[in-house]
Formats: sequence, C-alpha cells, structure tokens
Amino acid sequence: MMAAAHAGYGRRPLLQLLRQETPFLSGPFFASAPCRHRHFKKKWATTAPRISSVRLALQIFDMNYSVQFGSLWPSIRISLLSEQKYGALVNNFSDVQQVIQQLEDLNAVDFIWESQKGVQDSDSMAEQADSEPTSSQEIQAKSSKSQGQPLPSISPNIKCYTFPKGDISLFHPARPDLIGILGYYLLDAASVLPVLALNLQPGNLVLDLCAAPGGKTLALLQTGCCRELAANDLSASRTRRLQEVLHSYLPKEILNTLRITTGDGRKWGDLEMNTYDRVLVDVPCTNDRHSLIEEDNNIFMRMRKGERQMLPMLQLELLVAGLLAANPGGEVVYSTCTLSQLQNEYVVERAVELLAVQYNISVQVEDLSHFRSLFQSTFSFYPDCRLGELILPHLTANFGPMYFCKLRRLG
Ligand SMILES: C[S@@+](CC[C@H](N)C(=O)[O-])C[C@H]1O[C@@H](n2cnc3c(N)ncnc32)[C@H](O)[C@@H]1O
Repeated sequence: MMAAAHAGYGRRPLLQLLRQETPFLSGPFFASAPCRHRHFKKKWATTAPRISSVRLALQIFDMNYSVQFGSLWPSIRISLLSEQKYGALVNNFSDVQQVIQQLEDLNAVDFIWESQKGVQDSDSMAEQADSEPTSSQEIQAKSSKSQGQPLPSISPNIKCYTFPKGDISLFHPARPDLIGILGYYLLDAASVLPVLALNLQPGNLVLDLCAAPGGKTLALLQTGCCRELAANDLSASRTRRLQEVLHSYLPKEILNTLRITTGDGRKWGDLEMNTYDRVLVDVPCTNDRHSLIEEDNNIFMRMRKGERQMLPMLQLELLVAGLLAANPGGEVVYSTCTLSQLQNEYVVERAVELLAVQYNISVQVEDLSHFRSLFQSTFSFYPDCRLGELILPHLTANFGPMYFCKLRRLG
C-alpha cells in the first residue's frame, strides 16, 4: 500500500519531483562535444562536415570515461572498439543433451557450472584443512562459513557456454531441432548475470519491465521458477520481435504462462503496485558498445540529443515503477549496458531516496560482491563500483559493459 508522502515534498507528482531532484541531468556526460569556436558557430555549422554519431559517442566517452576510469580507460576503449564475445544460453525446452554435446565439442564451457564447481571445491578444501585461504573463492567460502551465512544461491538451471578467456572463437547461429525449437540463444554472456542476481525461487511471480528483444526473458524462463512471467516493452515493433524470439524457443505450455504487453513501464507502479516477487528493470541506456559501431538508430544522433539527455530521468522513473510493482520483501534488479555512473549508481541512489521520501518505503541495496569471486575467470569486474557490479570489456574477455544492482524492498 502506498504510504503517505513525506511532509517536505507534499503531494507533488513524481515526474515534477524527479525533475527538481535530479541535478545530474545537466552533468557533463550529456554535454555535446566541446566547441572551441563558439562565436563562429553559424559559419562552422554550414561549412564543417557533420560529425558522425559514432565519432561523437567516442569523443564523449573519451571526455567522461577517462575521468571516471583513469588509467583503465585505454584498455576498456580498445576492447569496446574490438569484436565482442558471445555466450550461448542453452534452451532447456529443446533437446538439451544434444545441444550441450554440440557446444562442448567446440570446447566451450558452461561458465555458471564452472563457477559452482569452484565453490564446491573450496568448501571441501575448507572442510579438509582449516588452513589459511589461498584463493578469493576460498576466502569467500570461508568468510561466509565463519559468519554462518550460506552463499546466495545461483540457479542450477541456467546454462551459458562461453569460450575460455583469450579464445575468440565464434558460435554458429542455432538451428531448429525436430520440433522446430532452437537449442541456444546467442547473447553477451554478461547479460545472464542480472538474471542470476535476481535469484528466482520456485513459484515466483516475475515482471520483466523492459523485455525486448528477450534475451533476459528467455534466461528468466530457463530457471523453471516462474509461476507467471509478465514481459513488457514500450516499443510495438520490439515487442513483436520479443514474441518471435519466445515462439522460436518455447513450447506452447510455457508460452501460456507468459503475459506479453506493449506499454510504458513507468506506469507499472500505479498499474500493479505490490504485486511481483521479482522484477527485472533492464533499462534503455546509451548502449555504449552499440553506439561505437552502428550509425543506424544511434542514441548519439543529433536528433536524439534531447532523448539522450533525458535517459537518467527515464531510467529513474522505470526503476521507481519496478520497485513499486514489487511486493514488500520482493527483489528487483536494475541493469544497463553502459559504463556511465550517471546511468548506473546515481540512478540507483536517487531511486532509493525517492522511495523513502515520496512513498515512505525502505529499499536496501544488496551486496553482490560474491559474483566477483564466482565469475572472475570469465569476466573482468570493475573493482571500484560503489553500488552493484560492473563488467568491463577487456580484450581477453570482451563481454559487457554490463551494470547490475540488486535492491530489496523492505516495506
Ligand atoms: C536494454 S533494452 C532491453 C533488453 C532486454 N531486456 C533483453 O535482454 O533482450 C531496453 C528496452 O527498453 C524499452 N523501453 C524504452 N522505454 C521504455 C519504457 N518507458 N517502458 C518500457 N520499456 C521501455 C526499449 O524499447 C528497449 O527494448
């Protein structure tokens, strides 16, 4: 139930409140490239060739990320400009054994399974000898043991194959099996991490607020835990794509448990307040890797400048809606595929503040640092993320960027 609004804020509409409380909208990330000759602007505009969106994106990233990441930026930059690595998400609704065999014949490994083997190994080593820990997995296993806390569970049902670090082999597109269902879905393997962080439990009612084209929706369904899943997207054409994807991977009985809608996710807080056990808020963002390779529909196009500047506001409104749509006690994961702090940690901080001030709802940001030790052999984690986790593109593990942060509604 919605709590009374905070006295200091009265009952101003959320959007108005957000606009007044969101100073970062005018921050440097959203500035245009620096203009050295402002007084010649008119002449410059008519004679200078128009800078491409990809070039503008690179200039803005250089300006901001060199400050944000310091000496790490050159390595991230070259990785962003190099070929991305993929993962193959196994479709449990197809002939799984055959698919696994096919992927293992390529020498790909299921990075989730591998990470769990590491935990089991370190557990048994810790039981054998109470010696000093020698690896971060052991340290993590030991510290959680010594505090009497079990490691948060990782869904045993999601299988995602990748080529080992340094191996740049490519997967072939999946082929349909005898009943026409595709065996695996190719995606940035880091996209699976927000889904793992959501930690679905059997019988969960799940909302995927910005779902198209559907990679994470498919991963959510692989857990076998969704009593019902609502998948929504604002764009009608992208929702059609989502439907096509789901029809290519799922049998009828699973399709019947889905509710696919085309709507503005910002309305979900009003439409279905206090409803879901788990909510994924995978928001539109500057999509950094895409913005550096593709002119088409690039968010750095001149005509999309206003939209780009409003992204943190949209992201904040979507996260607030996702939190309101969650049950008290429910878990929400916020994710993006940008390196930008303004679209990542700052959005999370503002959302937590807003829920407290406007709705009197406490939200706790959960620790996901165990993901680092579990998945360090597959991904390059940013060591200095204040809230949540960030996967950095790296030439030997060219996944991401992927930011994910888990929030739990306390009331
Ligand atoms: C990062 S993509 C989602 C990717 C998807 N989760 C996946 O894993 O395939 C962000 C999506 O948000 C959608 N979107 C943009 N504004 C929205 C809004 N106000 N409400 C719901 N969806 C929105 C876009 O159409 C886009 O499909």
